[in-house]
Amino acid sequence: MRKKIVAGNWKMNKTHSEAIELVSGIVDSSYDKSVQLILVPPSIYAAEIEEITSDGDISVGVQNSSQFESGAYTGELSASMIKSIGAQYVLVGHSERREYFNETNEMLSKKVNQLLLNDLIPIFCCGEVLEEREKENHFNLIKDQLNEGLFHLDSTQILNCVIAYEPVWAIGTGVTASSSQAQEMHQFIRGLLVVKYGNEIAEKISILYGGSCKPSNAKELFSNPDVDGGLIGGASLVSTDFIAIANSF
Ligand code: 13P
Repeated sequence: MRKKIVAGNWKMNKTHSEAIELVSGIVDSSYDKSVQLILVPPSIYAAEIEEITSDGDISVGVQNSSQFESGAYTGELSASMIKSIGAQYVLVGHSERREYFNETNEMLSKKVNQLLLNDLIPIFCCGEVLEEREKENHFNLIKDQLNEGLFHLDSTQILNCVIAYEPVWAIGTGVTASSSQAQEMHQFIRGLLVVKYGNEIAEKISILYGGSCKPSNAKELFSNPDVDGGLIGGASLVSTDFIAIANSF
């Protein structure tokens, strides 16, 4: 069975006290324990949140990491630093990083390598902008993003990765991919995994959906055979919404 995952990407939101309040709300809630919950706060809070959640089943991730190992890279966080505070997951190639910080597939492949060297789990994000979908180029684009950023890994390494499909036109817009659009792309991605790594491995890799996922649509999205959970933005900033999504399988 694949892991069911609901990860909350807080992006650049919450002051320290607000962040702690949000974590407390989540920790105090009851949720389906077969679902892996991952909190992905701004990195400045990650160590403290890791401590708060350390005796439970909630994992902590960060939103970005450096492609370099260590040294004179002001403002960057290395994979070994992230590992040393107990975080387990790292987002790689979120569309906002690709768009506003010019992250290329080549850089992302280096980030993935650094994470795996440090026993961290990359959540590799892929997704197309609306223009690409309208040109019916979305499948090609996702294939390129995966081929160039992730599929250099061998079979053992890919098993330590999670993939997140986030159509850019659905992020923060209130427009969700329809359940069938999500399934269609997730099935396509799993098909790429089958071709590259074989069926047995492809069946083990969780593929998350992201983009305006909320309590009202999570159940329908998660009911698809190839949708193994969600990468949640806006709705992860409210504990009751985040938990409601986690309870939507
Ligand atoms: P929204 O849920 O706010 O659309 O954001 C999705 C996302 O980008 C998660 O990484």
